[in-house]
Amino acid sequence: MALRNYKDKSPLLDPSVYVDDSAVLVGDIQIGANSSIWPLVAARGDVNYIRIGKRTNVQDGSVLHLTRASKQHPQGFPLIIGDDVTVGHKVMLHGCTLGNRILVGMGAIVMDNVIVEDDVIIGAGALVPPNKTLQSGYLYVGSPAKQARPLTEDERAFLTISAQNYVELKNDYLQG
Ligand SMILES: CC(C)(COP(=O)(O)OP(=O)(O)OC[C@H]1O[C@@H](n2cnc3c(N)ncnc32)[C@H](O)[C@@H]1OP(=O)(O)O)[C@@H](O)C(=O)NCCC(=O)NCCS
Repeated sequence: MALRNYKDKSPLLDPSVYVDDSAVLVGDIQIGANSSIWPLVAARGDVNYIRIGKRTNVQDGSVLHLTRASKQHPQGFPLIIGDDVTVGHKVMLHGCTLGNRILVGMGAIVMDNVIVEDDVIIGAGALVPPNKTLQSGYLYVGSPAKQARPLTEDERAFLTISAQNYVELKNDYLQG
């Protein structure tokens, strides 16, 4: 069973969302229309919450978690992902906020209280340390991630295309 309760919270999914049977979604998670969750994703909305927007895909083996409230950080750090975001294979997203039209490259790690503005690419294998803001319109690579260059027009266009490709793919899967 892919969807599990935590206390009185259970995942709330738009009916058009696709979740692979092998993914595990726990607790306070909301996912918007036409998003997709691929094999072996683990998303745990227990000590805070996870919100995922529309047409966003979270690819195989990615891990999504968050940080509880504390004296130092009374709200803790929920995980918030916007619309048209591509989260590549085996990405770790922890207590961060992602805007819209973002590609998180395979194997990247994005840590607590990071803000990723709209229209950003994070290169495969990047590590984004806590509390950083990634500026709209740029490519970031490396560990720790550094601003590499502005995105090209083709790359900006690809962000939406990638999200749309995954909407079509999840529709195929939903149709069996
Ligand atoms: C970073 C990326 C966007 C390519 O950017 P680019 O500017 O076109 O890079 P190039 O291929 O021209 O390489 C430029 C330099 O960056 C290096 N580089 C490429 N990708 C890199 C990465 N992820 N991290 C660090 N360095 C990288 C190259 O080795 C090259 O270095 P060199 O000049 O010393 O030889 C791409 O490699 C990437 O990581 N894409 C993510 C794809 C993905 O994970 N998709 C999700 C699954 S669908």
